[in-house]
Amino acid sequence: MEKFVVAKSQPLSGTVRIGGSKNAVLPILAATLLTRQTCVVKDAPALSDVRVMEEILNALGARTKRDAENGWFSVTADDISDEEIPYELASKMRASFLIAGALLARKGVVKAPLPGGCAIGSRPVELHLKGFTALGARIEQEHGSITLTAKNGLKGGRIYLDFPSVGATENIIMAASLADGVTVIENCAVEPEIVDLANFLNAMGADVRGAGTGGVRVKGVERLDGCEHTIIPDRIEAGTFMIASVMTKGDIEIENVVWDHLKPIVAKLNETNIARVEQTENGARARCVESHSIKGVDIKTMPYPGFPTDLQAQFMSLLCLSEGTSVVTETVFENRFMHVGELRRMGADIKIESHSAIIEGVRKLTGCKVKATDLRAGAALILSGLRAEGETEIGDIFHVDRGYCDFEEKLKKLGANIKRVNE
Ligand code: UD1
Repeated sequence: MEKFVVAKSQPLSGTVRIGGSKNAVLPILAATLLTRQTCVVKDAPALSDVRVMEEILNALGARTKRDAENGWFSVTADDISDEEIPYELASKMRASFLIAGALLARKGVVKAPLPGGCAIGSRPVELHLKGFTALGARIEQEHGSITLTAKNGLKGGRIYLDFPSVGATENIIMAASLADGVTVIENCAVEPEIVDLANFLNAMGADVRGAGTGGVRVKGVERLDGCEHTIIPDRIEAGTFMIASVMTKGDIEIENVVWDHLKPIVAKLNETNIARVEQTENGARARCVESHSIKGVDIKTMPYPGFPTDLQAQFMSLLCLSEGTSVVTETVFENRFMHVGELRRMGADIKIESHSAIIEGVRKLTGCKVKATDLRAGAALILSGLRAEGETEIGDIFHVDRGYCDFEEKLKKLGANIKRVNE
């Protein structure tokens, strides 16, 4: 079992390059099933979640090739021999359900294990299913799996999502891209990753309009072709490095970012008094202004362009060392405070009341053994370890590898004291 050992670090300095977005590449890889031709995806991050998606594509009969050095990934799904997403792979990653929309559109049938609960919440898929039903699919649930069938093909339909679910929006757009007629999705998610998926589909010959707004219109086409596409930079990775820089009183340059995607995190960081995050020619500069102390601020996670739930844990690490009280309210997932117990072990003063965490800033954190309870919780503990007295040992780091590529290497290059050890 591997773990990270992190020790109090000097202020981070230097330049870091952000990789392609995890949450953009996963639906885009699923969308490659919509064509028989080869699709080439550039800047695909070498993450364990991407490897799981690759294994699922292979299990269905698609051929994949990757060039890790140059960061491209190609998929040719000329022959899909199976319609069943294997349970062993699906159970590793909830995003495996993103295969359902594309496979249903391509084959007219798909059998997918019902995603179970995961650490951060129960994460049901009824909104995805509502969309598939509106497109004419029949749904049967038996023995823990869902079978979707559309024997005579999917037909365009109108769907209003009760909540702007990212995954449901993506799944419905993919299914609708080969449906007969026009599909309109209202109250859909507006995350940048939805826009990236729409750009990819349109490059394949689809007709998707309005991505990035609350209403998307998809005019089904008869077939889609192969294409080449570069994945957008990962805004969550960029936000994590910004917080790391500010926490260590550092000054770093962050390359390969889309500045607009970072506005919710930049606004909150700049509110803390000590952070100055600015746009630069090559990306962004995130630094700490020494003369002030960290001011406690309140954050509330919301769908984009609100504060991202995927940066809530990392931002909380910073707030633990603030002066005064901060309130962090989680509105997207029902159980995303698992890092709180671990941060408390490091000396943080945090109380949970319903969906809010109330943080009283402390003067210092102290290193100890902790566990990454989920992906972003793991990142938060690493950031805390960079400021804590003594050594912090973080276990269960496979969670971190799901979403951060070369995390410790990138941090080390900036001067962080972190190593990966095999227990
Ligand atoms: C995606 C991201 C994840 C991010 C989340 C919110 C990927 C691979 N993952 O997850 O990193 O934290 O968006 O920004 O892109 N819900 C339902 N019913 C449904 C679908 C969702 O109740 O049918 C609920 C979920 O339980 C959750 C909330 O809606 O509480 C948000 O989920 P959703 O936007 O679907 O997130 P994901 O696509 O799973």
